[in-house]
Amino acid sequence: MKKRSWAEPYKIKMVEPLRVTTRSEREQAITEAGFNTFLLHSKDVYIDLLTDSGTSAMSDRQWAGLMMGDEAYAGSVNFYHLQEAIQKFYGYQHIIPTHQGRGAEHILSQLLIHKGDYVPGNMYFTTTKLHQELAGGTFVDVIVDEAHDPDNEFPFKGNVDLAKLQALIDRVGAEHIPYLSLETNVNMAGGQPCSLANIRAACGLCHEHNIKVFLDATRAVENAYFIKQREAGYENHSIADILREICSHTDGCTMSAKKDCLVNIGGWLAVNDAELADHARNMVVVYEGLHTYGGLAGRDMEAMSLGIRESVEYDHIRARIGQVEYLGNALIDAGIPIVRPIGGHGIFIDAARFLSHLPREEFPAQALAAALYVESGVRAMERGTVSAGRDHTTGKNNFPKLELIRLTIPRRVYTQAHMDVTAEAVVGIYEDRNLVTGLRFTYEPKQLRFFQARFEPTTGNQILRDPDTSA
Ligand code: F0G
Repeated sequence: MKKRSWAEPYKIKMVEPLRVTTRSEREQAITEAGFNTFLLHSKDVYIDLLTDSGTSAMSDRQWAGLMMGDEAYAGSVNFYHLQEAIQKFYGYQHIIPTHQGRGAEHILSQLLIHKGDYVPGNMYFTTTKLHQELAGGTFVDVIVDEAHDPDNEFPFKGNVDLAKLQALIDRVGAEHIPYLSLETNVNMAGGQPCSLANIRAACGLCHEHNIKVFLDATRAVENAYFIKQREAGYENHSIADILREICSHTDGCTMSAKKDCLVNIGGWLAVNDAELADHARNMVVVYEGLHTYGGLAGRDMEAMSLGIRESVEYDHIRARIGQVEYLGNALIDAGIPIVRPIGGHGIFIDAARFLSHLPREEFPAQALAAALYVESGVRAMERGTVSAGRDHTTGKNNFPKLELIRLTIPRRVYTQAHMDVTAEAVVGIYEDRNLVTGLRFTYEPKQLRFFQARFEPTTGNQILRDPDTSA
């Protein structure tokens, strides 16, 4: 059969120029940013792969939707459009909009977690875990062991380990577990999916013990695509059908709409229980805004409701994940150690292996992200020891099994030529990896330290030593 490639299911109508900087400009910029890519000014970044959060390109229909914003304080027509889209595609009954995902996490955690409770989850996410802890809970990781091994090719590395979940129930008692925090396409594991069989089983086990299940639906559409690709029996299901089925097993979700939903800001909490929804509505007015806008403008809700419809179109999701695979395969072909299988929203490079000359105490992932920026102007994000923070009781650094940098691909923004340039930059630095220096803190924030921490090189003052001057 003749080869038939896919291409992006859109054409470009408007462009945003990119600025190319010199290496010495980038050295200065990263030094001023305390070697933390979060603190760079975006004007100094060439290809921005910091995150897929809020960085999507909206469609012409979504931009048109902005003009249809009904900016009424109460009862905006756009809220009802959003509610309708979520009810149709996610299937939940009660919808409470929030300014972004963590707004929903805050409300859910405060409503359901009591001091001394345990919250199992398939790997932590930074903001999710922090809100669980602020509410008095302790997060317990119940993801399958395969998720911690970057080389393991298991197709559903996001799965819940049912034995770990059962062991927690036996140890602390179901009455001390308010809910399972179930994430689809697990971000910190490398964008790895859960299977529907596992979702069904994990939810079944929880419900048997009267434990609720709340989905972190942030990348559930991407998870649905992997189910269609990999899980027997789902090859002929639509993405929309699979998404509905995922949600149907759970009691509600928190959502960062800045990812799957193709918007630049927004989120929501969805629940099926009417009483819990009332409590959540009482809380949202305190922390976010009235329950029909939750911190969002009417136009934001309109763009979100249109984005939800576009997100479940097969051609969209195939091109989105296809682009991530394209970059991943280029890196694999060049021998770069990345998390496998290739995930849904980005490529995760194994920084501990890439920079094997640096001890974990010198934050190899933080160093690699800074060095990649100096080499190429490509901005990546640390997802390792700095992100994992400190243990609250011992005060020591947590050393997660995965020490990664994430090249996160915004949706519908970059072309394959940008992916080629990125791959070449990573390969270039791999060839000179011994020139990368370790880092130590000069400023360490107490909460979510990765966002604002500052560092300095452990030797010299450059993150990427000059090949000519290094011994
Ligand atoms: N859950 C997951 C799985 C996320 O990836 C994020 C955000 C959130 C919750 C919080 O949502 O940012 O809207 O408040 N992830 C971004 C990222 C920040 O870059 O991975 P938010």
